[in-house]
Amino acid sequence: MITAYAHSKVNLYLGVGDAREDGYHELETVFQSLSLKDRLEITPVAGDPGTVQSFNVTGLGAASVPTTPDNLVWRAIDLMATRAQLPAVDVHLHKGIPTAGGMAGGSADAAAALRAMNTYAGLEEAELLDIAAQLGSDVPFTLLGGTMLGTGRGENLVPVLSRGSYHWALAFNSAGLSTPKVFHTLDAMRDAKPDMPRATGSNELAAALLTGDPKQVAPHLANDLQAPALSLMPALRKTIHSGEQAGALRGIVSGSGPTVAFLCESAEHAAEVADYVLDAGVATATTVAQGPAAGAHVD
Ligand code: C5P
Repeated sequence: MITAYAHSKVNLYLGVGDAREDGYHELETVFQSLSLKDRLEITPVAGDPGTVQSFNVTGLGAASVPTTPDNLVWRAIDLMATRAQLPAVDVHLHKGIPTAGGMAGGSADAAAALRAMNTYAGLEEAELLDIAAQLGSDVPFTLLGGTMLGTGRGENLVPVLSRGSYHWALAFNSAGLSTPKVFHTLDAMRDAKPDMPRATGSNELAAALLTGDPKQVAPHLANDLQAPALSLMPALRKTIHSGEQAGALRGIVSGSGPTVAFLCESAEHAAEVADYVLDAGVATATTVAQGPAAGAHVD
């Protein structure tokens, strides 16, 4: 059996440009991978080469994860099977990352599947990144991890220098938000109000990340998807307020949400914020995480 780990991400900066003809939006984003992860177990079994024989999911929100060929893990295996010799496999996914939570859980699972299956396929890193980009905008980053600037759909990546480790409290919401819906809502809000504020570039965040000081990083966290996420789920305002009341340096919606990520001064501080937000009843569940973490990797 091969065990691979899929790490979640938070966008420290997410600037969204206009919609392109292909329906995607030009992004300027700074990703940071987090210690919060899913576990993927792949077991070679008898059957036609490159096929998925069984697929089961356990853990956080397992009931809402599809176990059909449209799951990104399954699609990753299908796509890799068109390029390399693979065995038939049983797949077991154990979720720790919330589903539809804005933390790239599904993308990270696909990246972990690519790493696991590549122990059979032996493809070059560039080929893996190419398959990753076909699977989804966040899959290339979750394959690599660390701290990176993403442009284009988010798939063109360059590393960002970052010092130290950052401590986060994460507030989950069992409801989930659809990423396309959040992007469309942003388009509609901008159409209705063209002078709506936009994130102004990631240079100041990049400079702050060099200090390794979360107090300097906090003011430069930005997310253009936060306004549409709040408009679709107004209760998130209370979640953000609650964590900041508990002393978090800053609370932001993670990616397209609805997870709220609170940057904290230390691991202890993050644990306090997570407890406070849960007790306040403004999140379904909370946890703590650290970043930057690794990308998808085989154990
Ligand atoms: O690439 P992925 O399939 O993960 O994207 C999911 C959806 O998010 C897209 O269908 C699109 O609606 C939206 N999206 C976007 N611009 C991006 C990335 C995602 O509009 N750069």
